Amino acid sequence: TVFRRLKMAELPRVTYSNVGVDLSPVHAHLDPMIPGFEKDTLGREWSTPFATGAREKIFSPIERTISLGKFPVSTPTDVKFAIKAARAGAKVWNRSTLDDRLAFGARWREALAERKYDLGLAALYEIGKSRIEAVGEVEECLDFVEYYASELKANNGFVRPMNELVENETTVSTLKPYGVFAVIAPFNFPLALSINMVSGALLTGNAVVYKPSPGCALTGLLLAETLHAAGLPDGVFNIVLGDGEVGRLLATDDGIDGVAFTGSHKTGMSIFRHMATLPYVKPVIAEMGGKNPAYVTSKADLDRAAQGVARSAFGLQGQKCSACSVVYVDERVKAEFIYKLVAFAGKLVVGDPRKAETFMGPVYGDATVDRFKAVLSEVEGKGKVHFGGAALGQGFPDNYVLPTIVELDGPSRLTREELFMPFLVVRGFDSLEAAIQEGNDIAYGLSAGIFTNDQNELQYFLDFAEAGVLYANRASGATTGAWPGAQPFCGWKGTGVSGKGGLGSWFLPQYLREQSHTIM
Ligand code: SER
Repeated sequence: TVFRRLKMAELPRVTYSNVGVDLSPVHAHLDPMIPGFEKDTLGREWSTPFATGAREKIFSPIERTISLGKFPVSTPTDVKFAIKAARAGAKVWNRSTLDDRLAFGARWREALAERKYDLGLAALYEIGKSRIEAVGEVEECLDFVEYYASELKANNGFVRPMNELVENETTVSTLKPYGVFAVIAPFNFPLALSINMVSGALLTGNAVVYKPSPGCALTGLLLAETLHAAGLPDGVFNIVLGDGEVGRLLATDDGIDGVAFTGSHKTGMSIFRHMATLPYVKPVIAEMGGKNPAYVTSKADLDRAAQGVARSAFGLQGQKCSACSVVYVDERVKAEFIYKLVAFAGKLVVGDPRKAETFMGPVYGDATVDRFKAVLSEVEGKGKVHFGGAALGQGFPDNYVLPTIVELDGPSRLTREELFMPFLVVRGFDSLEAAIQEGNDIAYGLSAGIFTNDQNELQYFLDFAEAGVLYANRASGATTGAWPGAQPFCGWKGTGVSGKGGLGSWFLPQYLREQSHTIM
């Protein structure tokens, strides 16, 4: 299912059902830009996104109020076809020069910049991202492409001369693309986390078969359009749509040389288990969630700490793998910290994500609403709800929930497991060492933060916190806000098996394998 641009007249119309809101700006932004499919590279007819039949599903998570469109679910044959097209594309792209790929990167960045607001708006509608988060996400995409291209250039495409042992014999180490990468993306950063992996694969010369998250077909297709606009050769980038089953077919197909995956721990680990059954193991670049603690000591600036923790816990409705979901606070300052935290959370605007003042839009999908209710019922009798713990009400659907702050007496599933919702646990501590030990005693290791003005406490945290991304005294986000080229996003333990994450300088080589060339 190679993406191709249709002529304007052939574009399928996407219909919006307007429920009490003025969607004309959306029409104006998105209507002319919904991409469609025509034929794949091998000339086969592709069903239109509006074909009726059992395999058609409505994907929009906020479809209850606004329908963004209907998209086809790829069949097993479609997945095979996309992989076949990618293998053909890989023949060309695997052998592209560094200059070709850098030029492509520059054109792609430009194409993304041109569509900045369309892309952001699509993410806002598809997953309920606030305006500022949506536009910020597209800006992050631009920086991803620019940063990885600059890394590629700075490393001369990862070609390095080696020592000369024998006279007249020269050796170079080269890093070569594997071939075709399956890229499977999550819903929460439908653009940035897709582009993190897609740009990693494409800039290193791999072809891609990409599957956006089931609720993010529109952003996925718009992303495909930007690649088309950047003039990527046919077959190099391919898109399939569907749920976990489509992802499983893609990741386990023999025609794939590697998988880049961002999503749940469970799904990520199933990809690794599959690789272990093959005659040889293929690379899996996986980022699989987090449970990120923050520590607030008696030497902290408590205003700063309250702000940083609340922003990290409730930004994007707590649905970031880097979200702060447990805060350990020194008993001596606990009451004051909770007071400030609740005051800050109380000022966060929950509501329509299109409004500029909104900090939290809806949580994603009914399943999250159900999990939120289940988590609250677990708290009953075990802890104290300091704030939230309910739906927003005020006539909003029940996927608009309040930021929730709960104090618990001991560690439990709620302090160890990733919940992916605006739910923050507060735990009091007498000893920072013991708190860090409890914060480490989880199966994840993505990010952690500390608030302290004491150098020894800071150093203890830097020495012993078991996570790949550490922050200190950050008011903009205790554990969130990593940016390409600024904070490598390297998950330890169950977050990611390689310990080398996106946004940093060790990411690209994971899409490449070394080959040594000795010439006499
Ligand atoms: N880069 C984002 C963050 O660090 C995405 O997870 O919060």
